Amino acid sequence: MHLCKCYDQPMQIIVTGGAGFIGSRLVAALEAQDSGHRIVVVDDFSSGDFRNLRHFRGDIISRPCEELDWDQHFGRQEIVSIYHLASITDTTVSDQRQMVERNVESFRRILRFSQSRGFPIVYASSAATYGQADGLMKVDQEPAPANVYGFSKMVLDNLGHEARELGMRVSGVRYFNVYGPHEAHKGRMASMVYQLYRQMKAGQRPRVFRDGQHLRDFVYVDDVVDGTMRAAGAEAGVYNIGSGKARSFNDIITILNECLGTDHEPEYIDNPYEHFYQNHTEADISRSRKKLGYEPQFGLKKGIRAYVDWLELHDAA
Ligand SMILES: NC(=O)c1ccc[n+]([C@@H]2O[C@H](COP(=O)([O-])OP(=O)(O)OC[C@H]3O[C@@H](n4cnc5c(N)ncnc54)[C@H](O)[C@@H]3O)[C@@H](O)[C@H]2O)c1
Repeated sequence: MHLCKCYDQPMQIIVTGGAGFIGSRLVAALEAQDSGHRIVVVDDFSSGDFRNLRHFRGDIISRPCEELDWDQHFGRQEIVSIYHLASITDTTVSDQRQMVERNVESFRRILRFSQSRGFPIVYASSAATYGQADGLMKVDQEPAPANVYGFSKMVLDNLGHEARELGMRVSGVRYFNVYGPHEAHKGRMASMVYQLYRQMKAGQRPRVFRDGQHLRDFVYVDDVVDGTMRAAGAEAGVYNIGSGKARSFNDIITILNECLGTDHEPEYIDNPYEHFYQNHTEADISRSRKKLGYEPQFGLKKGIRAYVDWLELHDAA
């Protein structure tokens, strides 16, 4: 175990949002590295679930990041890195004050605590910062969030930029449409891969917004975790973390039919979120490739196949 020089305590990696979907996969990957560092999760369980951390060997602080006294909890500890994934993740929440206050103040506290301490901070941003722009999304293009969730992530990017100008090692990872194990607790906010799988397993026709041709960059959670961990050791900046390819909801249904040995026809329904719905998201991952050495390992077919194998063993929902 790596001990902190001053207090003979293990050095710590902090993961906020560690009881959530991506956070819990990140925690598992960090533990699998067996680095000797102590892992501490900060999560208020507002959307996360303890079952995601059933095999966790570290400590957990169940407080909202924006209320936690970071100095009191961690001021005497030597920190290796902070991964900040905690966030309101229900993108349909329309209470603007609640969304902005929780998401932005959480990050501000972490930045204040970390100032002049030198360790890297990686925070979760989102493709939602690009808004309804169509096509390949480049990190340097103008943000144009179409909902308050995307707006709150844009403000995180602004704060991250200011922190880098002050010399802090702060990186933003803009996740695209993530799918994979440990997302069932998200309910209707879980990925479309999960929603469609559940419907088809129940013998129903898979329901998608008319006419199933909206394009998304669907990215498997293990690729996302890999990109996130790479960002902690690389040049500070903002990085797109997607698959680099846009695929349709109809494509998901075709692949799920193949995996499940079924032949369900999609049922097309009207889209109630038309005013802020993205028609086409696709990550330009050239910078992530170059600076992080990030290379997604899961194409859509491979990712859905891996996920269905996992669901068939674990999903009891
Ligand atoms: N899943 C995706 O497709 C996707 C896409 C883009 C960005 N992201 C971002 O990735 C991160 C992780 O998302 P996820 O899909 O794992 O969602 P999730 O809801 O499963 O995880 C979020 C976790 O953060 C916790 N949390 C929320 N607000 C908190 C607060 N203020 N203080 C402490 N804990 C808090 C929740 O209890 C939950 O465990 C989020 O920042 C999200 O905005 C996710």
